[in-house]
Parts: sequence; structure tokens; C-alpha cells
Amino acid sequence: MTDSTIEKPYKDDSLQLLNRLAREHLHRHVKALIQAVLCMLVVAGSTAALAYMIQPALDHIFFHKDSTMLTLIPIVVIALSFLKGIATYGQSVIMKSIGQRMVMDLQVKLYSHLLYADIAMFNATASGKLLSRFSNDIYMIRKNVTSVITGLARELVTLIALVGVMFYQNFELSMIAMLVMPLALYPMRRLGRRMRKVSRKTQEDLAKYVSHLDDSFQGIRIVKSHANEQGEIKRADNIMNGIFDLLMKAIRIESLPAPIMETLGGLAIALVIWYGGYQVMAGVTTTGAFFSFIAAVLMAYRPLKGLSGVNTNLQEGLAAISRIYEVLDVHPKITDAPTAVPLEIAKGKIEFDNVQFTYEEGKQALKNLSFTAEAGKRIALVGTSGSGKTTIINMITRFYDPEAGSIRIDDQDIRSVTLSSLRQSIAMVNQEATLFDDTIRANIAYGMPNASEESIIAAAYDAAAHDFILALPQGYDTMIGQHGIRLSGGQRQRIAIARAMLKNAPILLLDEATSALDTISEQQIQQALDRLMQGRTTIVIAHRLSTIEHVDCIFVVKDGEIIESGTHADLLKKRGDYAKLYHRQFERQAVLPHQTGLASVV
Ligand SMILES: Nc1ncnc2c1ncn2[C@@H]1O[C@H](COP(=O)(O)OP(=O)(O)OP(=O)(O)O)[C@@H](O)[C@H]1O
Ligand SMILES: [Mg+2]
Repeated sequence: MTDSTIEKPYKDDSLQLLNRLAREHLHRHVKALIQAVLCMLVVAGSTAALAYMIQPALDHIFFHKDSTMLTLIPIVVIALSFLKGIATYGQSVIMKSIGQRMVMDLQVKLYSHLLYADIAMFNATASGKLLSRFSNDIYMIRKNVTSVITGLARELVTLIALVGVMFYQNFELSMIAMLVMPLALYPMRRLGRRMRKVSRKTQEDLAKYVSHLDDSFQGIRIVKSHANEQGEIKRADNIMNGIFDLLMKAIRIESLPAPIMETLGGLAIALVIWYGGYQVMAGVTTTGAFFSFIAAVLMAYRPLKGLSGVNTNLQEGLAAISRIYEVLDVHPKITDAPTAVPLEIAKGKIEFDNVQFTYEEGKQALKNLSFTAEAGKRIALVGTSGSGKTTIINMITRFYDPEAGSIRIDDQDIRSVTLSSLRQSIAMVNQEATLFDDTIRANIAYGMPNASEESIIAAAYDAAAHDFILALPQGYDTMIGQHGIRLSGGQRQRIAIARAMLKNAPILLLDEATSALDTISEQQIQQALDRLMQGRTTIVIAHRLSTIEHVDCIFVVKDGEIIESGTHADLLKKRGDYAKLYHRQFERQAVLPHQTGLASVV
């Protein structure tokens, strides 16, 4: 299962990433891109023209005192500036909207990818770390995508236009000004690379931070009951201090390009004044042409400085994007086979045939496990904690696939049928009732948006939940809080049972559904469960053996194997493991009437 992890080491692959980004996300925005490029061309053209205008302005107005030009040139300058303003606005809005759309696409893609990911991936990755990819990494991309896209578009185009003017006005002088370019490239590249590394580490640490917060809020009761608030704060502080150091590193890297470019720009201008002045003095060029050239150099200086900043932004963005791609590149293994057909349930017989399964290298959770749950019968799995009972029922829903052996439902291998048809045929009540932060009604009708009000109430009624629901302030419309925090443990379980009732599936999997109940509720629930099990193939994991005395067959699980099977009476007669468990629990219960749960006894 180690390849389910999404954490990968740092790799420098800027070009590959950019290529992939363009391939996967840009093609949807071709029309907008063309509009943006047109705007950019106008910006570039008007910028170049404005720089170029200095020459006729100086030569015609100031030297030749041409009065027509005196009115004409200012009008042209105003018109050009206006045109440039409109085009700048257009390209900025269009490019930013492309950027935001790409971020949105990425976010949607990431979420749907994760919902379809294997359970094993979720086991390997803390939920806080996943959340951080949505919050911190997406934020990082959002923050940088606009500056990179607009920066690149504006600065690069302007720069090219101005360099064009420079070369047109004075080729020799341009070559001299360009001498400093190679000096700029090397430090920019190095800084970019360092930025990417630092940024990546920052994102990783931020993920740790979110994961820690998530942990401590989820476990707030334990934190408080151990009076360990300070301990948690210290842990958080440690992570945050590390992040602060990294952020400072990033700030230092970010702040370097501007002064570097400034110094190099000064150098270029000094060279130009020196050589250009010499040319003017020698009469090789006009003063107007020289000033137009100087204007172009000075104007080029701003986009050049901007571009060097774009590179650090780009590297920050790429660091975050590569973290998103890492998640997108882990493909689920548990998917529909190409030839998958819907599961056809005749009666609901479930067979395990030599099933082997391992969560983590080195320790088999299920070893050559075989058993049959006959159609429409009730079977129970019992055994000590960690013996593999929950694992068995998780295999039936294909949360995991076996390494060897097969599982069949009505003689169809569950790997040959569609996942949706398989999972629609199974209702599951888990060890921990899983509820969502929504109304009671929505929780019962989870995944069944078309369920009628009557059917929801009938399900709640059968689950012995109707009465307590009506006693709540807003009845079925009561919001129950995250994980159903505003309900008691037993109430949560009854909602989960109502959900299974409403699903009305031919196969029912119950994992210790009665653990959180008092005796009266337990009786009610037991009756509710009896109604629920009617006519369905049921596999129930029971910790209190008293609740399963009447099932059709009991399988005793030990270390991932079935070591005994038979009815309650058969197994008692056999005087094996089951008989031992039963007697021990019976004795315990005589001494400790409130003691429940086999797990805590054995
Ligand atoms: N997600 C997981 N990753 C790694 N190992 C796991 C995982 N879930 C269970 N295991 C291991 O697999 C074995 C079987 O676990 P399982 O949850 O099936 O036990 P169980 O019989 O349901 O126990 P309990 O009665 O306590 O609920 C245990 O040794 C457990 O440590
Ligand atoms: Mg279990």
C-alpha cells in the first residue's frame, strides 16, 4: 500500500510542469487567449510608438520649430496613451480571468479526484494534509497565477517592443545595452530554483500545521481532559517557527532580483550614455534619435525588473502546482473493470473464497479466508479485537481488493461488476455512525435525494428514532453539527440505522451497531435491527454475544482466519474458542452488569 502515498520528494521540472499546465488547462481558453494576445499587441505597439515619438518630437519641434508638429504630436501622444490604457485594461481582465478559471478547474478536479480515490490513499494521508492542498496550495497558485500571467504578458510584450525600438534606432548602441543581459540571467535562474525549493518546503510544513490543527480540534476533548493545551500550543509553535524561517528565506530571495536588476540597469545606462554621447558628438546620430533610444532603455527597465520578479512568482506557483499534480497522479486501483456489468442480485448469497489481504507489508490481515453467507440468512462474525472482522466487511464493499482469492455475490465476482451497482446493493452500519453536518432528514436520506417524506419518517420510525427526532426543537429539520456532535451516541446510531432502512438494500452489513446504547434503547434497537434484517442477507459483527444467539450461523475469526463456525448451540457444544468467549463474557456480565463489548473483555 506504500504507493498510495501522495508525498513525493522535490524534483526540478519547471518546463515539464508548464507544458502540462498548458496542455491540460489552457486549451479551454483559446478564444480568451487570442483576445488577450490582441490586446497585448496593441499595448506593445502603442508603447513602442510612444517611445519612438520622442524622436520626431525632439527633432521637429525643438530643433526645426515645426508648428504643425507642435499640435499634431501631442494629439498623437494622447491618442496612443488612451489606446494603450484600454488595451492594458482588456488584457489584464482577460488574462486574470483565464488564471482564475485555471485555478478553479484545478480545484474542482482535485476534489472529484479525491472523492474517487481509494480508501487506502486516505489511510496513508492525514486529512489535514489533504485539506492543506485545497487551502494553502490552491491559495499559493491563485496568488501567483495572476502575477505570473499578467506579468509575463505585459512585461514581456512591452520589453520586446521596446527592444525593437532600440534596435531600430541604433543597432550598435542596442548591442552595447544588451551586454548586461547575460549577467542578469544567471542569478535569476539560481534565485528561481532556490525559491522553488523553499516554497515547496513551506507548503509541506503548512500542511503539517493544518494537519496538527485538525488533529487537535478533532481531539479537543482529550486535549482538555489531559490539560494538555500548552503541549499542543508548543507543538504548533514549533511548526510555525519553522514556517517563519522558511518565509523569511523566501522574502530574502524575493527581494534580491530588484536590486540586482537596478544595478545592472545602471550599468547599461552608463554604457549607453558613454557610447551614445560619443556617437552624437561625432555626428553619427541625431540628438532626437539618441533620446528616443534612451527613453526606450529607461522604459524597458521597468518590464525587465518586473520579469525578474515574475520568475520567483512562477517558481512559487509551480511548487504548489506540482503538489496538486502529485495528488492527481495517484490513480485509484479500485475502479470498474472495462467489462464491468451491473451486479444482478437474485437472493444475495455472499462467498469468500481463499481471500488474502494485507494493509501494510509484513502482516496479513486476512489469511486464506473462506466462508459463505447463505442468501437471506443472518450470519455473525465474532472474535477478539483486531482479528479482522471489520476488514472482512470492508472487502465486501470493495473498500479494499483482496491480494489473492475472490469474493462473490450470487456467483458474480465483485471485481467484475460495477462499483455503483455493488455499493447500491449493500447497506452498511459502521462501528462509528458517520453523520454529516446537515439536517436529520438529509442524513437519513443521504445519497437518496428523491426519497419521499413518508419513507424517511417510516425509516426513522422503524429505527426507533422517530420519537426522539420529534422531541428535538426543529424535528427532522434539526441541524446535527459536524459528525452529529449535537446527538448522543445512541441517537447517532439510530439515525445510521434509519439510513440503512431507507436504503432498503438486499445485503446488510452491521458493525457492532448496538455498542453505544442503554438496555432500553438496546432492546428498541434490537427490534429495529430485527426488522431491518428481515429478508436480507445480513453479516453482523457482534461484540455482545447475547445479541447473536439466534443467528443462522456464527463464524469465529482469529488472526484473519475463520477457526470455528456453526450455530450458537453447535459452538457451545463444541467447547472451543466460542464457548470460551461466551462463558467468559457471561461471567463478566454477572459481575459487571454494565460491562459490554467482547473487545473489552477478551
Ligand atoms: N487502515 C488500516 N491500516 C493498517 N492496518 C489496519 C487498518 N485497519 C485495520 N488494520 C489492522 O488489521 C487488523 C484487523 O483489523 P480490523 O479492524 O479488521 O479488526 P476487528 O476485528 O474489526 O477489531 P475490533 O473488534 O477491535 O473492531 C488489525 O491488526 C489492525 O491493526
Ligand atoms: Mg472492527
